[in-house]
Amino acid sequence: MPAPLDLRPLAPADHEAAARLLHRSLVHWYQSRLGQGARFGDRHEPFRLFPEVYAALDPGHAIAAHDAASGNLLGVCFVHPRRTHVSLGIVATTPEAQGRGVARAMVTPVLAQASRAGLPVRLVSSLLNLDSFSLYSRLGFVPHTLYQDLALTVPVTGLPTPPPPAAARVRLTTNPADAARVAAFELEWQGIHREPDYAFFLHNQVGAWRVWVLEDAGGALEGFLVASHHPACVMLGPGVARDEAAAAALLWRALDAMRGASPVFLVPCAAAQLVRQCYTWGARNVELHAAQAIGLVPPARGVAFPTFLPESG
Ligand SMILES: CC(C)(COP(=O)(O)OP(=O)(O)OC[C@H]1O[C@@H](n2cnc3c(N)ncnc32)[C@H](O)[C@@H]1OP(=O)(O)O)[C@@H](O)C(=O)NCCC(=O)NCCS
Repeated sequence: MPAPLDLRPLAPADHEAAARLLHRSLVHWYQSRLGQGARFGDRHEPFRLFPEVYAALDPGHAIAAHDAASGNLLGVCFVHPRRTHVSLGIVATTPEAQGRGVARAMVTPVLAQASRAGLPVRLVSSLLNLDSFSLYSRLGFVPHTLYQDLALTVPVTGLPTPPPPAAARVRLTTNPADAARVAAFELEWQGIHREPDYAFFLHNQVGAWRVWVLEDAGGALEGFLVASHHPACVMLGPGVARDEAAAAALLWRALDAMRGASPVFLVPCAAAQLVRQCYTWGARNVELHAAQAIGLVPPARGVAFPTFLPESG
């Protein structure tokens, strides 16, 4: 019979243990199932970025599961309540505790609270990780959009092909007022609203973020893309573009600004032309993810780029 769990908010004093747990859990799972543990590196220190970003962005919302008897940390679960929905992720448990219901115990109260608030719950789940997919599927999540994770080592001399035509209209912004503009654009095109995330990226105090915007000749937004430049998470997203041409322009500019690095980004599998364009830049498939939800998924238009930091299915 599994030991009783003590579920409580993850405290700053738990960040070191949470970083160790995330690293060990991911390395163990991906190494034992897929022989891919090396992709998470051999140090846990970079994983401190996750609890630190989440503590700054959603203070008090991350959940820690401790063994009630020993006090050992057995699992963590990060939760991001938003105006239109609740985002969930990362969820991880120690290798020794896996299969004992720890993840289910952490996620269940989040679902109950979202249900009471009348909000859908969203996440992106790896399709290579059946334990994760099954956990969410059993809890009632339903996949709605398929993404391919692409990785690209950007040559130090820049991307090998000329920029797409609209790339000249992509620019960096650090203007705090753009948080509301970008959030309104995402609400219009994807039906979700998360202005605090964009205010957080533009404030740029925890992590290392760049926010790219694409505007038409009249200054109206055609898309945006956030890039994480922190060495612990070199990744593009979140972002939304009105069409594949706008998405290609944003991606090209954000990637070209990461010379010598190997960012990962998620592209909707349905955006076939965009995917082909990414291949011409040298992108390789490294994983598949499904955006999943419990509750209403509003009709979405355009191209969305989800990310894992912060989880943004
Ligand atoms: C994914 C992960 C969090 C699951 O944690 P866990 O504590 O082992 O999960 P639980 O024991 O609470 O629940 C697993 C559920 O999936 C079910 N399950 C597992 N494999 C299954 C399968 N192949 N088919 C159907 N159900 C399956 C279990 O029966 C259980 O459901 P139940 O509670 O209804 O019986 C854990 O494997 C982990 O930390 N992996 C490494 C980190 C990671 O990849 N996290 C996900 C990325 S965000």
